[in-house]
Amino acid sequence: MTNSLTLPRPDDWHLHLRDGAMLAGIAPESARHFARAIIMPNLVPPVVTGAQARAYRDRILAATGSEFKPLMTLYLTETTDPADVVSAHDAGIITAVKLYPAGATTNSASGVRDFDRVRGVLDAMAEAGIPLLCHGEVTDPDIDIFDREAVFIDRVLDPIRNRTPGLRVVMEHITTADAVAYVQSQPDDLGATITTHHLVINRNHILVGGIKPHYYCLPVAKRETHRQALVQAATSGDARFFLGTDSAPHTDDAKESACGCAGCFTATNTMSILAQVFDDAAALDKLEGFAGRNGPGFYRLPVNADTITLEKTAEPVTYPTRIETGAGPVTVFDPGFPLYWRVT
Ligand code: NCD
Ligand code: ZN
Repeated sequence: MTNSLTLPRPDDWHLHLRDGAMLAGIAPESARHFARAIIMPNLVPPVVTGAQARAYRDRILAATGSEFKPLMTLYLTETTDPADVVSAHDAGIITAVKLYPAGATTNSASGVRDFDRVRGVLDAMAEAGIPLLCHGEVTDPDIDIFDREAVFIDRVLDPIRNRTPGLRVVMEHITTADAVAYVQSQPDDLGATITTHHLVINRNHILVGGIKPHYYCLPVAKRETHRQALVQAATSGDARFFLGTDSAPHTDDAKESACGCAGCFTATNTMSILAQVFDDAAALDKLEGFAGRNGPGFYRLPVNADTITLEKTAEPVTYPTRIETGAGPVTVFDPGFPLYWRVT
């Protein structure tokens, strides 16, 4: 039995850090264990230019300290200037560009409605090797919310990839066996992030025995067979799958509401949860790839030289149930089972 596990310091390839008092309150939760993170640009207003990304990066560094490396993204709109994207990338300010179909999730109103209008940007990104990160859900009102990811693959993602050869794409926070199968069927210019919470919850966790707003996120968790497909993909050793926590803080009053916000906050206990999930799947040896190596491999960045050590505990680990921030309290994701792994 393995009781201790040393990994390259992990990175988080999909993270929401927000801004202002919320940023100050929650950023240390990620910086404690993670070396780098891909920072989502869905602020209000969104981060759409290289200059805005640079200013946001500096606000993040002020909250985390310079040990942590935020990898910035731009929010793709129908008026994004291809030259600004390429020059921000060349200057080392941005790492990727994020595609939100308009209306798909929190703060996505400025997203893309007509994909033909972003062709010029996508062509420039393919040319410059800048990855496109997709929120993979269609927003058509006639498509059932549980089908929106699978339909996105057929109607949007596959056509974009076919018409933009060489474009490197990450399907963010995949939630279905359909997405796992699509990624597995494609060459390695397509990767996928998997969140901590989607490895743990299915849709019953949200709805059975009363509605659980802290388990509501987008894409919404699907049925158990899909969760199992995600665990299988994450623990398979396939380098196209890597960790993107999608840790997405909202204050408790915004979550526990008649129209609650989507997002699970997992930054605080992600590494303990992942170690438990991988241990339970008899795949602890695959955690290093999933959390430490596969992401840098896709992004063509070095693996972190620094390490962290996880240790198996006799008693369940304790962690705060909520983080108090200047913007209000944020509830930490409760996996619903005890965790026997802690970061030393
Ligand atoms: C995210 C947020 O709150 O910004 N919410 C979520 O449920 N994941 C947005 C997103 O990544 O979809
Ligand atoms: Zn997200």
